[in-house]
Parts: sequence; C-alpha cells; structure tokens
Amino acid sequence: MFKTNRGRNLFFSTEIEAGISDADVVFVAVNTPNKTFGQVAEKAADLQYLEKTSRQILAHSTSDKIIIEKSTVPVRTSNAMERILNGGKNNIRFDVLFNPEFLAEGTAIRDLESPDRVLIGSRETENGIKARKEIVEIYANWVPKERIIESNTWSAERSKLTENAFLAQRISSINAISALCEKTEADINEVASAVGMDSRIGPKFLDARVGFGGSCFKKDIFNLVYICQNYDLQEVADYWESVVKINEWQENRFVRNMLSSMFNTIAGKKISLLGFAFKANTGDTRESPAMYIARGLLEEHAQIVVSDPQALGNARNDLKDAEGDLVFEENPYKAAEGAHAIAVLTEWDEYRNLDYERLLSSMVHPSFIFDGRNILDHQRLFEMGFNVYSIGRAPLKHFR
Ligand SMILES: NC(=O)c1ccc[n+]([C@@H]2O[C@H](COP(=O)([O-])OP(=O)(O)OC[C@H]3O[C@@H](n4cnc5c(N)ncnc54)[C@H](O)[C@@H]3O)[C@@H](O)[C@H]2O)c1
Repeated sequence: MFKTNRGRNLFFSTEIEAGISDADVVFVAVNTPNKTFGQVAEKAADLQYLEKTSRQILAHSTSDKIIIEKSTVPVRTSNAMERILNGGKNNIRFDVLFNPEFLAEGTAIRDLESPDRVLIGSRETENGIKARKEIVEIYANWVPKERIIESNTWSAERSKLTENAFLAQRISSINAISALCEKTEADINEVASAVGMDSRIGPKFLDARVGFGGSCFKKDIFNLVYICQNYDLQEVADYWESVVKINEWQENRFVRNMLSSMFNTIAGKKISLLGFAFKANTGDTRESPAMYIARGLLEEHAQIVVSDPQALGNARNDLKDAEGDLVFEENPYKAAEGAHAIAVLTEWDEYRNLDYERLLSSMVHPSFIFDGRNILDHQRLFEMGFNVYSIGRAPLKHFR
C-alpha cells in the first residue's frame, strides 16, 4: 500500500507545523496510555499528548479545519479538545469529530480496506453534521455506505470503549471456563465450539488462552472503570474490573501450573519461552502475557530463554530490569537445547510447524510442553514423549 501510494497522495513528513496549516482535515492518532503518575495513576487516561496536539493545531492553523479524534479516549475528551481549539482568538472554526479506530494489530491493512463498520460521531449541530458528511464522503470512496454509521460524539466515544470491554470480557469468560474444564474432564475447545454455534453468541473470540495482552484492552477497561466510579456506578466499575482480574489470574495460574507440574521446583531449570509478542504477526509486546509469565518464572529462579521471530528487541527492553538468568535466542531449536520445558506463548504459525521430535531430542527428560495458545497437536506431542499441558483440557502426562 505504501509503495503504491507514496509520493502520489501519501506523504511522510516531520514538519508538523506545515502539515497542520496546509490541511483541511487533521486526524489525531496520538497515544492515550493510562497515567503512570499522580492522581488515579493506572486507571485514568493520560491525555497530555492529545492536549499538546490540540494546542499545536491551534497554534499553526490559519484556516477552518475538521479535527478527527482517532485515539481511544474516555468520556467527553472531544469536548476538552473543542474547548482548547475554539478558545483561540483567531476566528478559525474547528469542528471536532470522533472517528474511533477499530483495526487490530496483525490485520491492520485488511481491517482498513474492509472494515466491519466505520463510526463517525459529531455534534448534532448544523456545522457538526456538515463536517460529518464530509468525512462520510472520504470513507465512501472504498467503504460501502451501509457500513458507515453516524452518531453523536458521546455515543461514538462510548462505543469504542464498550467494544474493547466486550471483546476482553469474552476472552476472560472463556478463560474462566477453561479452568473449570481442566478440573472436570471437559475440553474447552469442544465447549467453545458448541457454545459458539448458537447464533446469538457466535464463534469468534472464544479461544481459551493464557490471557489477553496488547496496549488497548486493559487500559480501555480501566478507563471505563474510572468513568463509572466518577459517576458513582461502583457495581458497574467492579463488574468490568473483574475482566482484568480474571486475565491476571489466568496468567498467574499458568505460572503456578508450570511450577506444580514440574515437581514444585523450577529453580535452575531451563525453560524456553516460544513467543513474546502479545499476538502473532506483530512485534508489539505491550501488556503481553509472556512478559508477566517470564517475570513469574524468573521469581522462581528458573533459567529463561526468550524466543520470538519479531519481538526480541521489545522483549529485551521490557525485561531490562528483570533479575535472574535470562537470555534471548531467536532460533527456537537453540532456545530449547537442554531445556526442561517449552512454553508456547504466542500463536506464531512457525511454532505450529516446528520439528518437535528434534526439539524433544535436545531437551532434558522428562520433557514438558505448556501450550499457552492451544495451537499444537497435543496427542501427537504426547505420543512423541512430551508431557503436554494445554489450556482448558486435562494434561497428557506419562506419570501419575
Ligand atoms: N494499536 C492498536 O491496535 C489500536 C487500535 C485501535 C485504537 N488504538 C488507539 O489509537 C491510539 C494510538 O495507539 P497506538 O497503538 O498507535 O500508539 P503508539 O504509541 O504506537 O503511537 C502513537 C504515536 O503518536 C506519536 N505522537 C504523540 N504525540 C504527538 C504529537 N503531538 N505530534 C505527532 N505525533 C505524536 C507518538 O510519538 C507515537 O509514535 C491510542 O489511543 C489507542 O488506544 C490503537
């Protein structure tokens, strides 16, 4: 996409001032992490980048503009942007719209080209609706009109946070049931496929796994929790917070399970972690379950080898303050040499197709494999000689 369009109607520049003054429409997609300092650290969004950008736009604008907020934001952030922009004394009109980004990392271009829907929120004033229609026309160049929906700004802001909260809640729901399956001889895959065939529920996002990661889910839920608390809706806040709690519990449970399966001690044992990215097809490691698992295993004094085809740079950075025996090795075969266990923590395709006989032959016996993504052929690995632990199924082991 870049190769085809660069220099034609796609340009990259670091000259922000010129970019702002030349534009009719400005899309703002800066980061909105959670605060790490001061009041309500962790829960409230850190809106300093949005605010700085609004002031930059105000300072460098010489004509009316439509400002599109693309970042995921808490309640009424568009209002704050509007106040900053329209508080200037230069008689320029800014229409602030909220057009949330629904793409997912790993499938970004596909999501852009063929989105489920595009949502454009604006003030329901004459100017707001006019600005909204202009943006609808831009998207209508490649998105069917029936997939472009319009709403007021506040509904659009709430929709984005609600969507992420629902997606995360589905993962926590299936992960919670996975723990019950492990105790009751049920198979989570069979349960998920039976449940997902109900057309009211649907099959997507029902894969039990080690936990969700990524920069968005946790921060967006905490934003929602914070908003609810602000409006005195403590029960609603508690409900959504439990989605994050189950996720943290699932990650901790994975570490506890590794420890108890490997005879209650992993001190000095080499463990190879296959995958560090929060999901396949990205090098992004923000909030990756692998990071928490690596830290949990290091606390038990295990010897950790982290392997990933794309995320080792980020992994090194994430674990730079971690204490213990930690190395990074891109080659999964080298990573597993002399290991007691392998843990698959990212669903990279290449991990499905490794030569597991070769891996097994280079490992310490008994050898363990913990499939945190349920992507491997567990029966085959068991027959090969591995003790196999997955999510939401009883383990396959060669001893009682
Ligand atoms: N990553 C996703 O999959 C995803 C999906 C949907 C929505 N979002 C939302 O999109 C927003 C951005 O997310 P991201 O993952 O791309 O974050 P990011 O941190 O990867 O990228 C944000 C970029 O904005 C730049 N920036 C900050 N202030 C700036 C300024 N004043 N001028 C120019 N650039 C500036 C930062 O340097 C950074 O490169 C967030 O609100 C996020 O919640 C992200």
